[in-house]
Amino acid sequence: MRTVKAYSISTESIQKERDRVGGDPSKVDVSRVIELDDLELRELGPSDVHMRILAASAEHNVDHAATADTVNIAEARGGKMFPGNSALGEVLAVGDRVTRFAPGDIVITHCNGDPDAYGYPLRIWAYDQPDSLGWYGEEAVVGDWQLLKAPLDCGLNLWEIAALPLRAPTAYHMWRRAIGIYRVKVTREQRATVNVLGFGGGVSELFLMLAKSEGHNAFFCAGSPARREALEKLGIEGIDQKAFNRFAGKDDLKAFSKEVKQRTDGEGMHIVCDMLRGPVFAAGFAAAARQGVNVSSGWQLAQAVDYNTTIASVKQLTLDHTHYETIVGCAPATELYGRVFKPTIHHEVYDFHDLPRCFQEMYENIQTGIPILRVAKDMPASVQKLIP
Ligand SMILES: NC(=O)c1ccc[n+]([C@@H]2O[C@H](COP(=O)([O-])OP(=O)(O)OC[C@H]3O[C@@H](n4cnc5c(N)ncnc54)[C@H](OP(=O)(O)O)[C@@H]3O)[C@@H](O)[C@H]2O)c1
Repeated sequence: MRTVKAYSISTESIQKERDRVGGDPSKVDVSRVIELDDLELRELGPSDVHMRILAASAEHNVDHAATADTVNIAEARGGKMFPGNSALGEVLAVGDRVTRFAPGDIVITHCNGDPDAYGYPLRIWAYDQPDSLGWYGEEAVVGDWQLLKAPLDCGLNLWEIAALPLRAPTAYHMWRRAIGIYRVKVTREQRATVNVLGFGGGVSELFLMLAKSEGHNAFFCAGSPARREALEKLGIEGIDQKAFNRFAGKDDLKAFSKEVKQRTDGEGMHIVCDMLRGPVFAAGFAAAARQGVNVSSGWQLAQAVDYNTTIASVKQLTLDHTHYETIVGCAPATELYGRVFKPTIHHEVYDFHDLPRCFQEMYENIQTGIPILRVAKDMPASVQKLIP
């Protein structure tokens, strides 16, 4: 049995921080909730892979877990969880039934924790999947079904590759669903080019890269100028969300709808990606073109939405809810690293010991791109040339 350092979130650390801030969620300091802990690795089973984590991306679900804003997932997991469901690692050893990987391989994870009969996840790894241990740690033992070979020659650097294991399959799945649903209603013969809108965030950025790569008009409505600029370089038009007060009032919504109409020759958005909900949902709903599709797999600002079903019916709108890609679908999503997915990385690559601060900065929304954690100090020769 081997013990390694890994981060955990516990009901005690959540409660301690809640007590400190008098129960005010806006004052929670996430860095006080996530703690460096000891994790005992299980013995290597015949279908297991033992890997050393080299780098990981920070994922928003950790902030949800630390603030317990949607559900107290640490409590649901028995009082403690080890988070981290996106990682890039080096294989150290494999069980005797593993044929797809060998020591020295560089691998990425997916977080489909428990596929249903059709491959869709019932639960997510290192979140609500019972007994799943996450990858914000020095080493891990995982089933080989949870890994894919990292596409080291895709043209991205190591941090960019590490940004994608969770967000790329999410975006890939949402895009194929949204365009597929739209095509049930409006054929390619009738309209080749559609207008696609995404709101701030890493998944939306990748979703828009997919839309753009297939020749569609793509629009990114975000508050961060740095993230808008990065997408503008790829031909994705930026819309400043703060110019519309993040849709705080009715007038802001009206002004946003007018802007969308102007930018789309009066047509509106055929496809909208909304990972945030809250006030963003109303803006996406108002921006929708006839036969539009609004797709989401996130609820960062609110879990419930409210909309006028008469308007939705008359406009033939579809709201689609997704969770994460099937295991099979994670492979084609990975094929698009570098070709389509060119993620924007936050300017600081965080050291493993700065992980708590990284999550607090994510919570404060002050990062300029997807945040990356460098877990291993010494990197294998196979990835040295990919480190910028
Ligand atoms: N189901 C899944 O598989 C899955 C996968 C990935 C993510 N998610 C969920 O989806 C959500 C987004 O994740 P992500 O990785 O795309 O995002 P992210 O890269 O962490 O970025 C979040 C974005 O939210 C925007 N934002 C922050 N506060 C806001 C506010 N008050 N109003 C409007 N926008 C605000 C920010 O953009 P601007 O400030 O630039 O506008 C920021 O870029 C999270 O809740 C995450 O847990 C789900």
